[in-house]
Amino acid sequence: MDGSGVTTRLAELRGAGASRDDLMEAAVEGIAAASAKYDWVGIYLLDGDALELQSFRGAPTEHTRIAVGHGVCGTAVAENRDINVPDVRELDNYIACSVGTRSEIVVLIRDADGVVRGQLDLDSDTASAFDDGDERELKVVADWLGSLY
Ligand code: SME
Repeated sequence: MDGSGVTTRLAELRGAGASRDDLMEAAVEGIAAASAKYDWVGIYLLDGDALELQSFRGAPTEHTRIAVGHGVCGTAVAENRDINVPDVRELDNYIACSVGTRSEIVVLIRDADGVVRGQLDLDSDTASAFDDGDERELKVVADWLGSLY
């Protein structure tokens, strides 16, 4: 995944007047298109003490609102860190969006002050799908989105 390729496109759209919601949509679109191993790509935004699903590509999920502290997504916010899970079957607090999911990565979206605004959340049907390169490139996109606040 080439994060700066995605943000270059996002910057073009922003220059053309795209709203923040539009840019979130374009971000998940660009990331999902970047690798066949990204089976589900979403952006959750922090809304009080819960995460609200903003945009996604992949199968629809009933988990559109996740409390901070719950699941991989809520744990990332509660512990203020990105989380890469090689095998979700080994987690006790995992919230399954799809039975086929084997690995998951959450990269936090922070604003210029470092305040967490949300997260990129990716699922893969392949175990250990996400490596340091994925995390680094996803962080490029997450940081760009954070700069919109
Ligand atoms: N697996 C996540 C829930 C979101 S779905 O993956 C789309 C979790 O455990 O928080």
